[in-house]
Amino acid sequence: MALSIGFILKNLRPAGRLARRCLCSSVRDENVTFPERVFSGIQPTGIPHIGNYFGAIKNWIKLQDTNDSVIYSIVDLHSVTVPQDPTTLRENILSMTACLLACGIDPDRGILFQQSQVPYHTELAWILGCNCTLSRLDHLPTWKEKSAGMKDAMLGLYTYPVLQAADILLYKGTRVPVGEDQTCHIELARALAKIFNNRFGHYFPLPEVLLTEAPRIKSLRHPDKKMSKSEANPKSRIDLTDSPDEIRQKVKKAVIDSEPKITYDIDNRPGLANLIGLECAITDKSPSQVCEENCNVMSGQYKLKVADLIVEELTPIRLQMERLLSDRQHLSSILEKGRDKAMEIAEPNIAEVKSLVGFL
Ligand code: TYM
Repeated sequence: MALSIGFILKNLRPAGRLARRCLCSSVRDENVTFPERVFSGIQPTGIPHIGNYFGAIKNWIKLQDTNDSVIYSIVDLHSVTVPQDPTTLRENILSMTACLLACGIDPDRGILFQQSQVPYHTELAWILGCNCTLSRLDHLPTWKEKSAGMKDAMLGLYTYPVLQAADILLYKGTRVPVGEDQTCHIELARALAKIFNNRFGHYFPLPEVLLTEAPRIKSLRHPDKKMSKSEANPKSRIDLTDSPDEIRQKVKKAVIDSEPKITYDIDNRPGLANLIGLECAITDKSPSQVCEENCNVMSGQYKLKVADLIVEELTPIRLQMERLLSDRQHLSSILEKGRDKAMEIAEPNIAEVKSLVGFL
C-alpha cells in the first residue's frame, strides 16, 4: 500500500522528536523535571455535597491562584460505570459545570472540560491497562467497597482507576487535589507511571496527592462513614443547592453522642468531630480554637451555629448556580472552549506515547 509523504512525515515527526529527547537523557533518568500541573476531576452524578466541596473543590479554587496550569474535568466516562439515564446525565453535566463555576472555578485561568470530549483518555487507559495486573486492581479498597454485594460487577467499574490514571497522565499532571478516599487511585496512577517509565523512558511525572484540611467529611447519619452521594438517605449529606431550611434541619438531626460539652475526639465523638471539622473548614480555625471558643456552648446550640456557618458559605453558590443555569448556551460554550484547550495538551502527548509504544 502506498503511503503519502505527508502521512509519513506527520506520523514520524513525534517519534523523531522523542527519540532525540531520549538520547539526551538516559532512559531511566529520574531527574527529569516536569512543569507543575494540577489535574482533578469530579463525576457528574448529581449536585455535589459538602464532602466534595470541602474535600476537593475548595482546593481546586485555591490552586488557581498559585499554579499556572490547572485542569479540571467533569468525568462523564467515569459516571457510566453505574447505569445513567441519558437525559439526566446530559442535564447533570451542565449542572456540574454551573456548580463548579458558581464555586469559583475560572475557565479563563485554567481549563474546565468534559472528559468524553477528549477521546485520548480512553486510548491512554488502554495502554496503561495493558501494563496493569489484575491483582493491583483487586486490592483497591474502592473496588472492594463498590463491588461488595454485587452479584456480577461491570468491567468498567473494575478498570475505572486505570482510566483515572490516564486522565492525570495524559496531561502529565503533577499534583492532584482530591479527598482522602481517592488517594489509593493516585497511588495506582504513580505505580502505572513508573511501570511505563521503566519500559519506555522517563516520560510521565509521578503525580502527588493534595489533600485539604477536611479530606474526609463524614455522613451526618453514620459518622463512621464518609459523606457520599450513594448513601440512600438524603439527610446524610448537605448538597450545595440545599435551601437554608434544609441545611438547618439536616444539621439539627445530625447524629452525635449525648455528652453536651464541645470537645474534639475523632475516635470517641466522631459525629461532633465532623461538625467541628466543618467549622474549621469554613473558618480556617483549628479544632482546639473552636473548642475553646465554645466551652460554654451546649452541643444542641453548637449544631445551630455550624448550620448558620454552612448556610452563609453555600447561599452565594446556590444563587450564582441558579443564575448560570438560566443560560445553558453559555455553559456549553465554556465546555467547548475547555475541550479545545485540553486537546492542545492531550494531542501531542498521546502522539508521543504512541510513538514510544511503537504505534507510530
Ligand atoms: P467523585 O466524583 O466521587 O468526588 C469528587 C471529589 O470529591 C471528593 N470527596 C470527598 N472529600 C471529602 N469528604 C467526602 N465525604 C468526599 N466525598 C467525595 C473525592 O475524593 C473527589 O476528590 N474518581 C474520582 C473522579 C476522577 C478523578 C480523576 C479525580 C476521575 N478522574 C482524575 C482526580 C483525578 C471520583 O469519583 O470523584
